[in-house]
Amino acid sequence: MAKALIIGCGGVGSVAVHKFCQNSEVFTEICLASRTKSKCDDLKTKLENTTTTKITTAQVDADNVDELVALIEECKPDIVVNLALPYQDLTIMDACLKTKTHYLDTANYEPKDTAKFEYSWQWAYKDAFKEAGITAILGSGFDPGVTGVFSAYALKHHFDEIHTIDILDCNGGDHGYPFATNFNPEINIREVSANGRYWQEGEWIETEPMAIKRVYDFEEVGVKDMYLLYHEELESLAVNIPGIKRIRFFMTFGESYLTHLKCLENVGMTSIEPIEFNGQEIIPLQFLKAVLPDPASLGPRTKGKTNIGCIFTGIKDGKEKTYYLYNICDHEEAYKEVCSQAVSYTTGVPAMIGAMMVVTGQWQKPGVFNVEEFDPDPFMEALNKWGLPWRENFDPKLVD
Ligand SMILES: NC(=O)c1ccc[n+]([C@@H]2O[C@H](COP(=O)([O-])OP(=O)(O)OC[C@H]3O[C@@H](n4cnc5c(N)ncnc54)[C@H](OP(=O)(O)O)[C@@H]3O)[C@@H](O)[C@H]2O)c1
Repeated sequence: MAKALIIGCGGVGSVAVHKFCQNSEVFTEICLASRTKSKCDDLKTKLENTTTTKITTAQVDADNVDELVALIEECKPDIVVNLALPYQDLTIMDACLKTKTHYLDTANYEPKDTAKFEYSWQWAYKDAFKEAGITAILGSGFDPGVTGVFSAYALKHHFDEIHTIDILDCNGGDHGYPFATNFNPEINIREVSANGRYWQEGEWIETEPMAIKRVYDFEEVGVKDMYLLYHEELESLAVNIPGIKRIRFFMTFGESYLTHLKCLENVGMTSIEPIEFNGQEIIPLQFLKAVLPDPASLGPRTKGKTNIGCIFTGIKDGKEKTYYLYNICDHEEAYKEVCSQAVSYTTGVPAMIGAMMVVTGQWQKPGVFNVEEFDPDPFMEALNKWGLPWRENFDPKLVD
């Protein structure tokens, strides 16, 4: 029925490709393209006898709009699914505009030379996408992604007004390394070493990195320290959830991770300022990425579970109400199914579901949108079907 062009064959791309191939009824064809074509070919060889989805592969430099346009014109997809890095969002959106092809990603644009992510760059494409009659869906991973769908679902079914949202991202997995990141180390370290920020009463409150710590008891994981971070869905939810008074995002980190990170920061290894080394210019953070374990290699070693969700407070029928929507995902189960750990799994599944929403017409309208701007119900149903079933708690412990 539909054809998707998937760009990026890393941790998330690999899970997504498994899921697109499981959903052959909708995705009869996929083209998998990345900087390193051999990775795409290896995945194709592994999957082609397990699915009726026809798989082709290609090499592409997604920083180059002309190359992308040529690839899209050759493969003629119904949608381009961007699972490369946030640096490539704008070039891929440009190519989609030129070829009038729908677009979806899982992370918002961030320039390579400034550790700053925000939606303004991509929201600036709203009119152009509208005029071209094509849909762009921003942030269809877990967070951002499912957290936005959860928010839209809570507003539709459980609240007249949502006053606060606390997004809690807990990874209780253990990969046995003293220090490793669960997705692209460069993107991950830029995110967690930035200042914290949250939305309260119409303004952003900024904190030092990791300055706000809370302790929470996560179902099926246990008691964990979690820290307030800035995360991109805070920006879109502050705009799209009417009357919201406060939104915060917390992520769990173990002591070993934080001690290593502090040390790496202190010695300058997390810097993105270029330095001269042996006559060559290098960026310390990119060098660090090269020496850290590849996130894709963590799959077979990681045990434990993730527990990610949103706690909402607000008003329903004149009464105060609290509601917690969350998913628990088992690293070992994810590895058994798609040979990746749960962090890639929880991102790759919603990427496939978001693309399905677009190509089946359920989430198709010209313009650039965040996931919470669509009807959450078909997405919520698909989460249960495609491996990320959700749970509800009507009396959760709140975060102070
Ligand atoms: N929303 C969420 O919940 C969530 C969670 C985790 C991650 N993410 C996002 O998911 C995306 C993928 O993350 P990941 O962990 O899968 O990263 P990854 O393992 O580093 O994979 C990135 C892939 O993109 C390819 N790539 C990079 N630059 C390219 C270029 N210029 N042209 C073509 N291909 C290029 C890489 O190719 P090579 O193999 O040749 O290097 C690699 O295959 C990132 O944007 C990340 O921020 C979102």
